[in-house]
Amino acid sequence: MSQEISGTYYIETYGCQMNEHDSEKMALLLEELGLAPAQSPDHARVVIVNTCSIREKAEHKVYSALGKLKSLKRRNPEMITVVAGCVAQQEKQKLLKRIDHLDLVLGTHSIAELPRALERVAQTRERSALTEFSQNTESLHLPAPNKGKSPVCSYVTIMQGCSNFCTYCVVPYTRGPEQSRPAHEILEEVRGLAGTGVREITLLGQNVNAYGNDLPDGMSFAQLLEQLDKVEPLDRIRFTTSHPRDFNDDLIAAIRDLERVCEHVHLPLQSGSDRVLSAMRRGYSLAQYIEKTDRLREEVSGVAITADMIVGFPGETEADFNATVEALTKIRFDQIFSFKYSPRPGTAALRLPDHLTEDVKSLRLSRIHEVQDQITEEYHKAAEGTEEEVLIEGVRQRDNQGFGRTRTNKIVNLNRPDGIGPGDLVKVRITRGLKHSLIGEVI
Ligand code: 5AD
Ligand code: SF4
Repeated sequence: MSQEISGTYYIETYGCQMNEHDSEKMALLLEELGLAPAQSPDHARVVIVNTCSIREKAEHKVYSALGKLKSLKRRNPEMITVVAGCVAQQEKQKLLKRIDHLDLVLGTHSIAELPRALERVAQTRERSALTEFSQNTESLHLPAPNKGKSPVCSYVTIMQGCSNFCTYCVVPYTRGPEQSRPAHEILEEVRGLAGTGVREITLLGQNVNAYGNDLPDGMSFAQLLEQLDKVEPLDRIRFTTSHPRDFNDDLIAAIRDLERVCEHVHLPLQSGSDRVLSAMRRGYSLAQYIEKTDRLREEVSGVAITADMIVGFPGETEADFNATVEALTKIRFDQIFSFKYSPRPGTAALRLPDHLTEDVKSLRLSRIHEVQDQITEEYHKAAEGTEEEVLIEGVRQRDNQGFGRTRTNKIVNLNRPDGIGPGDLVKVRITRGLKHSLIGEVI
């Protein structure tokens, strides 16, 4: 145990799965240092806010979370306050100037340095910002904890960063260029997880289809899946996010042929207008996108396809927006995550003319929700009476309902989960399809 730091830690996490997983890695480092998790930040020795800057709203939430720490720290001056994640990487030193009760700014490539940095703060009380994208890839190779939030589902990082520079997106700036993790490290981690009772892994990367491109003799993503599919006793392999430009036939074949790889692809479309897709620098047209999803559906029966969509990109006309609505009704995604365009510092789209008003963006977003909600509900209704394989993730104390997911990533609640528990793979008949989930009973 460290001489300097003892007591408890608290981590507040914002943003995507990558951030959730980074928080798990930081928690493991803190526990190795001898700290125990706290239920609230009130009396914790170390408080970390792991931040997201993908949209302005996410960033605002972070500043309000940091504001709340001010009075806590006044009452507990021993507290070491840390900002990690994308806002840390984006704002660097500026955060220390802006927030005087902040001790440490920890960039996205500096997670591995957390223990040393905390000890330094404890010894010297000097404030610092560690935000280099150095050649040091220690953080990429960091082992992850055996178990994250769920005892049966775990994330595994296969690559970090993104080199695509879509014109609206801050990720290449906050997470750096694409860097793949060596396959042997990934395999070792997955074997270790499977050995501790994990049944499902989700491989994480901003663009998993580019896996291996930056390694000298790196295997492709489809080849990596082939290796992982052999790991016993794993039940399911998921992955996110795929990029439509790099989504290829090899991967379609892998999803079709590999037993454990689930029939779900998250393939962000972003817009249904070719003009907007080009201004976003996405590297595909709507027709090319549809060609890929058609092929995927032909080869992998029952596959679920989900997407991200952005409305109100600068210069998006009514006609462009209508093309997006048409694309949704034509492609019929199982589910989408849709966002209002949000201007981000340093991105190319910021300098484009014809930014739209919040009102227009909000109207367009609600229209998109309306269209997609109906489609999703239709899929859920059509599932009534069908049989699904569900991996049980837990049983809720509150209403004694079991919950889990189908291979296509749909949430299923089970009314009578008698005798079943987390990790069980059960056959379920879907009895009702609701707006956001399915209800079923074990057969
Ligand atoms: N504004 C709105 N949405 C964005 N996304 C990324 N950057 C922005 C932005 N500036 C969305 C994209 C991406 C998802 C993770 O977040 O749809 O796929
Ligand atoms: Fe952002 Fe585009 Fe990279 Fe996705 S592919 S993280 S949207 S730059």
